[in-house]
Parts: sequence; C-alpha cells; structure tokens
Amino acid sequence: MDVKKLVAHLTLEEKASLCSGLDFWHTKGADRLNIPSVMVSDGPHGLRKQEERADHLAVNESIKAVCFPAGSAMAASFDTELFGTLGDALGASCQAEGLAVVLGPAINIKRSPLCGRNFEYLSEDPYLAGTEAAAYIKGVQAHNVGVSVKHYAANSQEHRRMSSSSQVDERTMREIYLAAFETAVREAKPWTVMCSYNRINGVYASEDRLYLTDILRGEWGFDGFVVSDWGAVSDRARGVAAGMDLEMPGSGGVNDAKIVKAVRGGSLDEREVDRAVENILNVVYRYAENAKPETEWDKEAQHELSAKLAEECMVLLKNDSGVLPLKKSDEIAFIGEFAAKPRFQGGGSSHINCFKTTSALEAAEGYQNISYAKGFDIAGDSTTEELLNEAVALVKKARAAVVFAGLPDSYESEGYDRTHMRLPACQNELIRRVAEANPNTVVVLHNGSPVEMPWVNDVKAIVEAYLGGQAVGKATLSILFGDANPSGKLPETFPLKLEDNPSYLFYGGEKDVVEYREGVFVGYRYYDKKKMEVLFPFGHGLSYTTFEYSNLRVDKTSLTDNDTLTVSVDVKNTGGVFGKEAVQLYVADRESSAIRPEKELKGFLKLALTPNETKTASFTLDKRAFAYWNTTLRDWHVESGIFDILVGASSRDIRCRAAVEVVSDVRIPVAYTADSILADILEDPRAKEGLKPVLDALSNMFAPQDDASDAAEAAISADMAAAMLRYMPLRAVLSFGGNRITGDQLNALLERLNRA
Ligand code: BGC
Repeated sequence: MDVKKLVAHLTLEEKASLCSGLDFWHTKGADRLNIPSVMVSDGPHGLRKQEERADHLAVNESIKAVCFPAGSAMAASFDTELFGTLGDALGASCQAEGLAVVLGPAINIKRSPLCGRNFEYLSEDPYLAGTEAAAYIKGVQAHNVGVSVKHYAANSQEHRRMSSSSQVDERTMREIYLAAFETAVREAKPWTVMCSYNRINGVYASEDRLYLTDILRGEWGFDGFVVSDWGAVSDRARGVAAGMDLEMPGSGGVNDAKIVKAVRGGSLDEREVDRAVENILNVVYRYAENAKPETEWDKEAQHELSAKLAEECMVLLKNDSGVLPLKKSDEIAFIGEFAAKPRFQGGGSSHINCFKTTSALEAAEGYQNISYAKGFDIAGDSTTEELLNEAVALVKKARAAVVFAGLPDSYESEGYDRTHMRLPACQNELIRRVAEANPNTVVVLHNGSPVEMPWVNDVKAIVEAYLGGQAVGKATLSILFGDANPSGKLPETFPLKLEDNPSYLFYGGEKDVVEYREGVFVGYRYYDKKKMEVLFPFGHGLSYTTFEYSNLRVDKTSLTDNDTLTVSVDVKNTGGVFGKEAVQLYVADRESSAIRPEKELKGFLKLALTPNETKTASFTLDKRAFAYWNTTLRDWHVESGIFDILVGASSRDIRCRAAVEVVSDVRIPVAYTADSILADILEDPRAKEGLKPVLDALSNMFAPQDDASDAAEAAISADMAAAMLRYMPLRAVLSFGGNRITGDQLNALLERLNRA
C-alpha cells in the first residue's frame, strides 16, 4: 500500500481521528478509503485478548491463552535463543488470533526491588535487558506481527505512575534508562514503541520530542509508530508535534478535535499529523497485508514449551552438600500452599487467563514418596499453630523438605509498589520451623523481584523460580529431581536488605518528583563500587555440574575505538551431568576521569555442555563496550587507556581476565578561560606546552621551602606547593606571579591555548 498517497486523500478530520484508538484494543479504520482497523493485545508473556468488556488492568476476562514465564523469570535465562523461541510462539499465537501487535516486551530498569511491576521487567542491567528484548522482538516480528517495546522511558516505579516526574541526568539516562531501548530499536526494529505515563525531567514522556523523535527516530532509526500507554496523553497537540503518533485507547473524540483545532489555529503543522498517520498506517498495512488467520495455535504444545522455558530460567541460588537434586526414592515433604497453587504471573495488564496450569503437586502425581502440608494460607496471608505443627510433623518423617514460598498477588502488582522487601511473616516463620525440624530443607521461591531471606543460612538449598508461567510446577519438579539441570543466573542483585539498595533514600520521591540520585550506580554497579556484601550477586546461579574456564584470548591487545575486539574463552563441563553455563563478560575501565562503575556487562552467552565437553564462547566488542556517555560531546566516548576484560560465572565470580589498550583520537572540546585551573590544562597534551611561562612565573612563589626543619615537613610542603599550584586558576598568575605576566600577556596566552 502506498501509504503516503493514501494519506494525501484524507481530510484533516479523518487524519486526526486515525491518531487515536477506536476502543481499548483497536485502531480506527476509515470505510471511505477501505482503511482497516487492527487489534492489539497485552503482552508481554502471553496474550490477553479481550473480546468484550475491555479494560486495561485485566479486570474483565480475556480469551483462554498460554502464560509463559514472566519477564523476571525469562531474563534469568541469559539466553537470547530462548527469547527468540518465546517470541516465535507469541508471534504465531497473534497471527492465529488476528492480533497485529503484542504489547511487550517491558524493559524498564529494575531500579529498586520495590517496583510493583518488576515481575514483568527484565533486569537492573540495560545490556542484558536490551539484548534479550531484541531477540524476543525478532522472534515475534518474524511472523509479521509487531511488538510494542514499553514503557519508554525512566518508568521504574508504580507509585504515582501517571504523574511522577523522573529526574534523571543526561548521562544516567543514556547509560541506564535509554540503553535497553536503544539496543532493542537498533537491533530488532520494533514496529511500535509505547511511551510511558510518567514525566521525564518535568515533561510527559508522551510529549517529549527529545526522546520520541530526536533520539528514537533521529539517532536510533526507529520507523514504526509510537503509541501512548493507555491514558498517558495530556496535551494531545503537543504530543503529535513531539512524535507521539497513536493515542490509546482514545478520548471519545475530544483529543482528535484538539488536533484539528491546533492545525487550524496554526499551532500545529499539518505535516506532523500526516507523519503520525503515515507511521500508524505503515504498521497497520504491514500486518493487514500479511495476516494469516488460518495459523494454528497449539496451546498444549505451548504449555509444554512454557515448562521448558521455565526450566531454563530457574536459578539455583544455593545448594549446600549437594542436597539437590532430590532422589525420587526418598520421602520428600512438600510444604506451603504454593505447591498446590503456584504464583506464576503478576497482577494487572499482563494477567493471562490460562487455559491450563500445572502445580508442583500436580506434576508430582506419578511420584510415590511425596507428602504435602499446606503450611500457610495464601489468600489470608496467614498461618496457624495447627498448620505449622502439621508441617513440622510431616517434615520430621521426611528425608528432605521443600518449602514453596513467595510473594502473594497482593504484594506485587501493576499499579502500586511494595513497601518492604520481606516475604510474608507467616512464611518466614514456616521456613524457620521446617528448617529446624529437617536438616535438608530446600526453599523454592515464587516472586518477581528480590526478597530478604532471614533464614538463608538455615536452609540447604534455594531455587529462585521467579514467576515462571503456567507450567512452573512441572519445571520445578524437573529441577528438584534433576531431570533438568538449573542454568538460570540472576538478572539482578539480591541485596541483604532493602536499605542497601542504591535508590533507597529517594525511591518513590516527594509527591511527583522522583530524583534518580544514584545516577548510573544502579544494581551491581553500586554494590561493586562500594565493595558491599550482598545476599546473591548479579549473574549468580549454580548448577548440578561444574564448569572450568580457561584460555581467555583477545585478538589484539591494542585497538582504536573504531576497531572491534574478539574475546574467546574455553569452558569445560568438569562435572558428571549435562549442563548449561551462561558465560558473562564484563569490561572495566582501569582509570577514568569520568566516575564510572567498577565493571559493566558487555557480553553473555549460554553454552550447553555434556560431561568433559569443552566449547569456546566468543564475543565481539565494539566502541560501546568501552564507552561512557560524555555530556560535552553529547556522544559515547572512549577515554584512551587500559581496559580489563573479565569473564566469569557471575559478577562476583570472575574466572579469567585480560587487559587491552583502547586509543581514541576524539578530543573533547574545551575553551580555556582565565578561570581554568592549571591541572586541567596540564592534562591536555596540546595546551600543556603553552603553559610554561605561567608555571615559571608561579614557581618562585610556590617552590617548596628550603628552611623546612626536617625531611617530613619538607615533603609535606612540597606536596602542598604542588597541589596549590595544580588547583590555581590561570588568573592567579596576576596575583602571585611577581608581575612577570601582564593582563595582555595572559589574554594572548589564552588565545594561544585555545588555538592549540
Ligand atoms: C499498562 C501497559 C499495558 C496497557 C494496556 C497499561 O496500564 O501500563 O503496560 O500494555 O495498560 O493494557
């Protein structure tokens, strides 16, 4: 379809009308020109297609569908292929259901463990989130249906979600809060991007030209349409001018009329409206011309797939004395109502109406030696002495106890944040009592975000299942009994306590102002820099086998910032069973004038290895792996110097390292003034030479004193003299230079320095 031509035939009213939804889930069509209306649906980990009585918070029922592991769980796979498989399944389901766009992936940064939507989000690390999201997008869009990458941007809390302003500095925005979106857009070309509810530095994300047009389209090459989060539009005409194409769900025509009025009144250029309509219709036709309603949706097969995905995501946090895997011949007690009713998805717009679920107890039906006690009541979020005693009596008779714990629905949901990081008290008490009664206690956790674990040293093993989708029970059994070997790694740090989290002091903000004062020091970037003890570090996850890393090599030891670097490492399965290992590569800038994290994730790869097998993991690093965002250049910049390449099994388990030199000839422009200090000028090799007359003039005044009474005093005064000199502004030469340089000479010198 020649969309440009089509748009030329539309009246202004028709165009304005196409810029908002028909209802909750459909774009508008136009009968006069046969423009089709298409349907979109949440997202992200299954379809929430509502046929009637629509709403955006899953209050009303949607069609029966398959719930895959939520973002929190999927992210722990550290496996782009797996994200591709999930995307492929979702794309096929969309085609079968006549959906043009699935509203996901959700890739906001997990800034604090408290964010109510953390269960949907991927990681505290933008490289991991962006790379995984790109694979999901490619998987979906291979079916000629689109995705909506959300929520763009800096939307890391639910508290006051429609009004709060995220106050984020430019470098933090680029390095942390935009970076995952950037990777997703550049690598996978999503059909749509959903702007978030919040404001960014005071401007609604739905009205911010900087993010919606200059960066998204201008820099990253986005060519789809931007859709508002449901109800995120405030000033519609300003939104159109900023690049916010489609308003969802619509405003009963009120905002469409405002677009028309703004154009007629001269405050909005009609070409901006044309552009928005073109963006929308390009996507509409991309789907409509490739619709395949005859596609089959095999839900049973997807249920099995959901179990498979969940298996690959589970993180074995701890496994003392190899208590896991359990033996099927042993008496095992399953404790906790989550064994019967697992929590496997979160509340709100992503809530799937599952056609089927499998709990751990259901999955264990063929097992002879499993007993069960409820332990606590999920709905009432409580326990009784009777329930606790029953659990204790049962585990006393068993070889091992597995407590199924986690956050109830009410603790973690879209729309509001958690107020603390604890599990319900009744569950902590249950775990404590069970662990006292049985030395082989295992805890399985169902939660979308870190929890404190006061019992961490009392239990032998912990499996973090996150919110693992409708077949989580089946996957849990496979992991517990060793039919599958755990291979998930934490996509976020588990701090010891909430107060350790870098955003703790400012999270939630004051009324509508939320300052992101920790800057780029989010997650492990903070805990590492502060050398803090954590409960479990970013990237951590154990296996039933062991892996040996060796032979790290780089294809060059010196490179420019235009070159790429290839890094390879051999990984061997040195244990007795098949297993997978997510190999992680971090880059550390040894010395930098910018304040940077200790190290940052810049590569990961999951390898599958049979016992004794060795494979090579290879990574290609480009400029971005070494760069930080320089606010003077307003660009990514590599400061020349030595960088460490660290490869390991987690952020705190680095097994191999190498060093390379990266050289950049990009010069950061500086304009020296009389207020510039000598230290800064001395750092600039080109300007340094010109400084000699000033140094000569000042050296008399600041030469170390000869009459210092002993050597120590002499050293101190020499240091002091050097420091005084370094931190002097150029103009000081007029006061302290013994009149050896005049004002005119200083001006001439400045001119020379700035020409150098
Ligand atoms: C959520 C989005 C969702 C939309 C439609 C909003 O409340 O923030 O993630 O896609 O509703 O359900």
